[in-house]
Amino acid sequence: MATQEETFKKIVSHCKEYGFVFPSSEIYDGLGAVYDYGQQGVELKNNIKRYWWDAMTLLHENIVGIDAAIFMHPTTWKASGHVDAFNDPLIDNKDSKKRYRADVLIEEQLAKIEEKIQKEVEKARKRFGDSFDEQMFRQTNPRVQEHQKHFDALHERFAKAMNDNDLEQLRQIILDEEIVCPISGTRNWTEVRQFNLMFATEMGSTADGAMKVYLRPETAQGIFVNFLNVQKTGRMKVPFGIAQIGKAFRNEIVARQFVFRMREFEQMEMQFFVRPGEELRWFEHWKQFRLNWHKALGLGDDKYRFHDHEKLAHYANAATDIEFLMPFGFKEVEGIHSRTNFDLSQHAKYSGKKIEYFDPELNESYTPYVIETSIGVDRMFLSVMCSAYKEEQLEGGDSRVVLSLPPVLAPTKVCVMPLVKKDGLPEKAREVMDMLKFDFRTAYDEKDSIGKRYRRQDAIGTPFCVTIDHDTLTDNCVTVRYRDTMAQDRVPVEELHSLIEKAVDPKQLYRRLAQSLQ
Ligand code: GAP
Repeated sequence: MATQEETFKKIVSHCKEYGFVFPSSEIYDGLGAVYDYGQQGVELKNNIKRYWWDAMTLLHENIVGIDAAIFMHPTTWKASGHVDAFNDPLIDNKDSKKRYRADVLIEEQLAKIEEKIQKEVEKARKRFGDSFDEQMFRQTNPRVQEHQKHFDALHERFAKAMNDNDLEQLRQIILDEEIVCPISGTRNWTEVRQFNLMFATEMGSTADGAMKVYLRPETAQGIFVNFLNVQKTGRMKVPFGIAQIGKAFRNEIVARQFVFRMREFEQMEMQFFVRPGEELRWFEHWKQFRLNWHKALGLGDDKYRFHDHEKLAHYANAATDIEFLMPFGFKEVEGIHSRTNFDLSQHAKYSGKKIEYFDPELNESYTPYVIETSIGVDRMFLSVMCSAYKEEQLEGGDSRVVLSLPPVLAPTKVCVMPLVKKDGLPEKAREVMDMLKFDFRTAYDEKDSIGKRYRRQDAIGTPFCVTIDHDTLTDNCVTVRYRDTMAQDRVPVEELHSLIEKAVDPKQLYRRLAQSLQ
């Protein structure tokens, strides 16, 4: 049995071998945490995006879409807090060449001291039994007192350094605490540097100099700055939502696990504007709807869980992640956040514009509160690939790799194959293909044995193969072979369309989701 790690490696190489994902600029040895989607990958990704877009904009008459530019006025990122706070303080170990977040190293040190205290407490609890008074023990035991003093002093110093953005002090703490690199075991540290995760570039070239602009680290701000535009031109009434799909960029320090953590990735975000005070009800609503959206694909209900945030960002009053069981554990695929009116208020403050909504029912103006649903296309892609990838042992000692993709998402829906390359079978196959190709992504394959052709389609997740044989020329029937069961049926050509449509049409999912909204 392959370990989960081995399975994951196989999925990554399968993605490359079958044209789903390639390392970026591979002929130059690639670029860290940047990937290109190939001929199969782009179709799967587009189908994921279509499913999300329609579930937002078709099923909700009060949600509209936009497509904002990647570049935005730089003040946007000042207002949103990204310029000042989208940072990680970094430190490198000169021996191992490994890079760490300085704050995380210190937090781990604090946790170690706490552990020491806890150990003393547990030891004493055992010794004193029922008569143990933990509070008294903590206040009087000299060893605990010593650890506690150390903890409090360190905590205070750390909090001050973080508040003051004092990077030298962070480094000094690491040195004073004799924190070692877990890889090299040495204390040979570089300076601490503040590392903003936003990519910056320059726009224009005037005599006064070019303007520093950022590649957006989230698509959400494009929605916030267009709130008034959409609300007014679309005559939208609160509650309403704005959806957007687009690229986002983050200079991730530790970028790993394939397309899970990338430096250039794609987000599908929806900001839902509600009355102040109603946000937590809507937060629950969107949690449930988003989970239903995931589950409707049939990847397995047990592969999802919510992870509620205990530590909330200063502007949020509720937040949860939808996690998916990847081969490397339950991981965040989507975030649902109740962001209060923070972003709209900040943009009002920095732009000097009034960003409010007049609610005719309440006869008052207010800054709407926001529930955000934010999902990474690439992480969604990865969760679909990981659950679809299967290695199967077949009767007779044969084996196959099959991608059991939800048919709605499969890049190719059907492959038409003439049994042989002669006797008029290719011509008939082309005729069948022409009948299907405007409604379904259809492939044509006449090379190699039928068995090999089936395997090729299994490996890219094509739900149906249609074989044209000599009998087809007289009875106008074809052999339909099903990807998951490998069963075969003889089907009249005129029934092919409805048979395929039944399996691949996303409308069935939309109907189910619409019911869940009632
Ligand atoms: N607007 C809110 C926001 O951006 P986030 O939790 O930072 O929130 C939302 O990101 C989603 O974007 C994540 O759940 C994840 O799916 C995706 N995402 C974030 N960083 C990513 C990265 N470096 N690579 C791939 N996907 C990423």
